[in-house]
Amino acid sequence: ATNRTFTMIKPDGVANGHMGAIIDDITKGGFKIVALKYTKLSAETAGAFYAVHKERPFYADLVSFMSSGPIIAAILEKDNAVEDFRKLIGATDPTKAEPGTIRNKYAKSIDANAVHGSDSDENAEIEGSFFFSQLERF
Ligand code: CMP
Repeated sequence: ATNRTFTMIKPDGVANGHMGAIIDDITKGGFKIVALKYTKLSAETAGAFYAVHKERPFYADLVSFMSSGPIIAAILEKDNAVEDFRKLIGATDPTKAEPGTIRNKYAKSIDANAVHGSDSDENAEIEGSFFFSQLERF
């Protein structure tokens, strides 16, 4: 799955009215939408999604924030998808995100950072499968 990545528009991106602009940036960035849904994580599902960070000091805040409101989840396709998407969104900490990146434009803090992007091909497949069945991928 080297040409696919997984993203979420996080609760802040949705609540602040940026979901249309973010989807526009993603499609203008050359990514095709393979799967898309508007949904809300419970504390349990957010905790399971981010289980890899269970031992990190920010885990509790992350789970609480990610279950605080609706999100958009999507699988995206493009050559070199994981790396190119991380360039499009910018650094995790929005104060370090390059001008023009999605986090530079729309993120407020390291938790409320507008979007998630998978960090590897393997995680892209795991994360996409967390939200989408084969029947929901086009
Ligand atoms: P995300 O790519 O969704 O994966 C884990 C999230 O934890 C990350 O984005 C940030 O929003 C959040 N987070 C909070 N503090 C940190 C930190 N110190 N380092 C990395 N991620 C953090």
